[in-house]
Amino acid sequence: MLTFLNSNQYVIDIQPTAHSRINEVDFNQLTFGKIFTDHMFECDYENGVWTNPTIKPYGPLTIYPGTKVLHYGQAVFEGMKAFKDADGSIFLFRPEENFKRINQSSERLAIPHFPKDLFFEAIEKLLHLDQGWVHQGQGHAMYIRPFVFASETGVSAAAATAYKFMVIMSPVTAYYSEKLKVLIAEKYSRAADGGVGYAKAAGNYAAQFYPTNLARAKGFHQVIWTDAQNHEFLEEAGTMNVFFRIQDTLITAPTSDRILDGVTRKSIIDLAHAQGIDVSIRKFSVTELIAAHQSGDVKEIFGSGTAATVSAISGFSYQENFYNIEDQDDSYAHLFKELLQDIQYNRSDDEFGWRHQVL
Ligand SMILES: Cc1ncc(COP(=O)(O)O)c(C=O)c1O
Repeated sequence: MLTFLNSNQYVIDIQPTAHSRINEVDFNQLTFGKIFTDHMFECDYENGVWTNPTIKPYGPLTIYPGTKVLHYGQAVFEGMKAFKDADGSIFLFRPEENFKRINQSSERLAIPHFPKDLFFEAIEKLLHLDQGWVHQGQGHAMYIRPFVFASETGVSAAAATAYKFMVIMSPVTAYYSEKLKVLIAEKYSRAADGGVGYAKAAGNYAAQFYPTNLARAKGFHQVIWTDAQNHEFLEEAGTMNVFFRIQDTLITAPTSDRILDGVTRKSIIDLAHAQGIDVSIRKFSVTELIAAHQSGDVKEIFGSGTAATVSAISGFSYQENFYNIEDQDDSYAHLFKELLQDIQYNRSDDEFGWRHQVL
């Protein structure tokens, strides 16, 4: 057994696996988020403190049927990525942002904050142990999933007193391999004012599955959510923020308590400013979008997210009409994807200080 003492005096109990599964994995045939690395991190919240931080072989949890998360959905998560450069060094992309956001999400769900030192220590130790699973090459990354859930048993609808914080990791390639067709929401809503839309709360995703399945059945990849009151303003997609290029101006919705403040979104805004591209962060309505399409001003629409990176949208549907978007020679989606990936894979200068070297 190895132990590791971090600056906050937490001792991570490290129990390495005796049987790595890495040789069973075909890294050229990965389905996003299906395969997990050899190890996972687990830490309990009991009696008001985080305790028993442990890294152990990836495996099943034993929980009682009365565990609160199964009944009340008190759970939040994060999604972040690590990249390996051509020399074999491993970098996280803006992990501070994910750390801050998981605690913001936790706060909204009445879950206790997790300590920063332990968050970083857990992820870095996991990456050290499972470094062979981080594949080199364009498109390859390690998707890292920290999450917290109510582990107390009891079917009484109140915040739990016990939680489990965990980190699991999955080697991935691109989330979407094709351009996306999206449906603009006219009936269902993802989030409401004063709700939990800005949090990465598990229930936000559960609530999207049904309307997204309806959209899928009509041949669309994703729904673009609109404001819950009037379905008038374009907000975000299932796991992506959305950008509209109208002529050469990039428009994206302002973040609010309904919209996830995406790390990729804010990175693209900074990159656009650095490129001298005009960015307008404002409410953008479906009516405006359709008018701009009719006048030929909609040059591009794309989504941004950790899993999806930058995903171009080939068209959208609204009130049963489909609006096609032609390919652009000077695509902003392509430009931002390249700029982001050059930073992530350590191929360009890190002028914003976004790379966090782990190994
Ligand atoms: C609802 C939602 N919006 C936007 C994003 C993009 O956020 P980020 O760029 O931080 O991954 C995600 C993915 O994490 C998401 O789940």
